[in-house]
Amino acid sequence: MKESSAHSPPRLDTLSMRDFRKLGAFINSELGIKMPDAKRGMVESRLRRRLTRLKMESYSDYCTYLFSSEGMENELVEFINVITTNKTDFFRESHQFTYLTQEALPELVGSGTIRGTKTLSIWSTACSRGHEPYTLAMVLAEFARTLENPRLSFKILGTDISTRVLDIAQKAVYDHEEIEPVPMALRKRYLLRSKDREKKLVRIVPGLRSRVRLCRLNLMDNAYPMVDQMDIIFCRNVMIYFERETQETLLLHLCRHLKPGGYLFVGHSEVLQCSKLPLVSRGASIYRKLRD
Ligand SMILES: C[S@@+](CC[C@H](N)C(=O)[O-])C[C@H]1O[C@@H](n2cnc3c(N)ncnc32)[C@H](O)[C@@H]1O
Repeated sequence: MKESSAHSPPRLDTLSMRDFRKLGAFINSELGIKMPDAKRGMVESRLRRRLTRLKMESYSDYCTYLFSSEGMENELVEFINVITTNKTDFFRESHQFTYLTQEALPELVGSGTIRGTKTLSIWSTACSRGHEPYTLAMVLAEFARTLENPRLSFKILGTDISTRVLDIAQKAVYDHEEIEPVPMALRKRYLLRSKDREKKLVRIVPGLRSRVRLCRLNLMDNAYPMVDQMDIIFCRNVMIYFERETQETLLLHLCRHLKPGGYLFVGHSEVLQCSKLPLVSRGASIYRKLRD
């Protein structure tokens, strides 16, 4: 490694293929995320920020630290925060929200013999910075407004492996540019503009924030802590990072947490092999669980 001069910042070395493969195998077994050799450059550049923050100059030292008992306790969460890809949007794949309003919600709310208010449970399984659960909250609140009596209540669970994105979701504050996909009528009803107009920030209204509970969950865990089954599960744009076998195990697990007749929404590139699952296709990236 070259020595840095007194004036320039320290020069980092590169992530060796040996260290990358060790990190990759760990990421794959802990998070399910595939790490082919082609991702070495991406991992190196994402970890650079951590090395700088920790004032470390060598990736090899970083690996030794991460895999030590101290690193597993203090660094693992930060490592996961930088290694995960968190791209998301409000109303991403908007046709799914149209389907929800026009087909799924009328079926779920209209079905069954329950009198009085029906409470729907919805789970956004890899919710990133909150755009998905808050989009769901807006869509559900809008649908509830169309009902003659206040027959519908809802609660949304948002989970992710990254604490960094969950902190952002918890604050529910977004840049003005990010709300571009939110229809104007919904912006007026569900978004609060910052008092400081210079800042160009908005915040989700308290009435919707209170419907969304956020917590850390690893989809690779053998058991999830939720007791009740869900009416609707969104598992979008996370399975693309997983091996096929991992996807199948995850989908079987999610199906156990979905009520018969409940809906599963996946990302547009995540095509399921329904023959092994208790699901029927209801349109592009939309599935319904068979009744027993
Ligand atoms: C690309 S984002 C998708 C966000 C949102 N579902 C959407 O479609 O806009 C993928 C998210 O999955 C999360 N993730 C990756 N592996 C995970 C795992 N094993 N358990 C839980 N979340 C995971 C990442 O932290 C990231 O926030």
